[in-house]
Amino acid sequence: MANNDDQFKKVVSHAKEYGFIFGSSEIYDGLSAVYDYAQNGVLLKNNIRNYWWTAMVQLHQNIVGIDAAILMHPTTWKASGHVDAFNDPLIDNKDSKKRFRADVLIEDYAEKLYQKAQKEIVKARKRFGESFDEEQYKTTNPRVVGYLAKQKEVLERMARSLEAEDLEDVKALIEELEIADPDTGSKNWTDVRQFNLMFGTQIGASADSSTQVYLRPETAQGIFVNYLNVQKSGRMRIPFGIAQTGKAFRNEIVARQFIFRMREFEQMEMQFFVRPGEELKWYETWKENRLKWHMSLGMGEENYRFHDHEKMAHYANAATDIEFNFPFGFKELEGIHSRTDFDLKAHEEHSGKKLQYFDPELGENYTPYVVETSIGLDRMFLAVLSNSLVNETLEDGSTRVVLKLPSVLAPTKVAVLPLVKKDGLPDVAQEIIDILKWDMTVAYDEKDAVGRRYRRQDALGTPFCITVDHQTIEDRTVTLRHRDSMKQDRVSIDEVSAIIGKEIAIKNWLTA
Ligand code: GAP
Repeated sequence: MANNDDQFKKVVSHAKEYGFIFGSSEIYDGLSAVYDYAQNGVLLKNNIRNYWWTAMVQLHQNIVGIDAAILMHPTTWKASGHVDAFNDPLIDNKDSKKRFRADVLIEDYAEKLYQKAQKEIVKARKRFGESFDEEQYKTTNPRVVGYLAKQKEVLERMARSLEAEDLEDVKALIEELEIADPDTGSKNWTDVRQFNLMFGTQIGASADSSTQVYLRPETAQGIFVNYLNVQKSGRMRIPFGIAQTGKAFRNEIVARQFIFRMREFEQMEMQFFVRPGEELKWYETWKENRLKWHMSLGMGEENYRFHDHEKMAHYANAATDIEFNFPFGFKELEGIHSRTDFDLKAHEEHSGKKLQYFDPELGENYTPYVVETSIGLDRMFLAVLSNSLVNETLEDGSTRVVLKLPSVLAPTKVAVLPLVKKDGLPDVAQEIIDILKWDMTVAYDEKDAVGRRYRRQDALGTPFCITVDHQTIEDRTVTLRHRDSMKQDRVSIDEVSAIIGKEIAIKNWLTA
């Protein structure tokens, strides 16, 4: 995947042109950082969600799902710390009048140092060939050591200043590092200020009786406040998990990266309730488990890395991000957090209700500790889409645009194409659709030459095309064309369902 602006622009325009994503209310010039999923986008999104739900809920006997409301009692957000601490440090550039997240400016600077070190390593690997020892090189080459040490120093200082709420030092760091507005090069910065990300609104008819509520900024709190209800009604025993997918809202300051950072987005979260003292063991287990889930999609091991947090969120005692190599570089895709008993204890204090669990094996009550896995569905969508979009040059020198989506996630699994619109071929095509449509999404296309129809399906990521021709009428065989290899097999109509079914089965992907 090309790691550049060009690839990113292609992804954005492909998403629109082929009916994956449109800007929200576009006829009114859109709403910043809000997007609508179109006819193909919604299918891809549903498939990603289902792939996650199957892996997390269906395949775990001790994990159940819920669907909590978006609006919650406002004290929830006081207890969770979001009213007081869900802030981003923002900084404005006085010349360009653009607003940035101060921590993101610094992180981007640190990432550049890391990339410089990587470049040196790649060069050295080429120079030394087989005998290259990367670990030794990283610790002995003065340039690489320098870049990595500086990266660490910058991130650690930022973490310390943010932790201590020392926003003056955050600004000082930006100035010392001579960080400029990436678009204009200006270094004329305002002071750094905190900005709360929650969207507030009102419940109730009149100004006097209305109550301030918030659109939830994470789905997790809906799980915490329901944990004891689920534990009791489901007779769950620790360790157990509660999973949920749903909308979350954040008034993001910087929202310029398409669906990477949205104001309305969807999360897929799971809270795993464990015995106090066992949380770090489970944290490691879930780190491993979640990385495995990502790997199962075959999008390239080299495109993932863990980034352990220097600065913990207010609720965590260990935290890491699974970062993905987006077209604009490695960025957070999923967070895994050991949230301690922070949330449950806080809800106990604010509600006055006991949220303790009686552990029959230990014969004691305690407030469980929680390990959370939290992934943005839209971010996962972007990862999949940007990783799959390829401009391919074929052997005959022609080119094609193909979306090499993991077939398990593809919006449409198969397109049925009658070679011509007559001689009974469309009827047989319809017969095939009627067989397949119960198990998968099927498209029908009879317009243009079949080569052009293949190209249209390639651009939509459809893994299979079935062509119905005159031979089909004679012997009930069809051509089955594979998207990536473009190989064509002659198979019987009766076999098609099983062949495609095997390639798109979640089981085969998750256990490969
Ligand atoms: N409950 C923990 C939590 O919300 P987070 O790291 O703030 O943690 C989890 O968010 C995930 O949600 C992120 O890894 C990211 O994939 C996604 N996410 C967060 N903010 C987002 C936004 N503004 N737009 C799209 N996805 C977002």
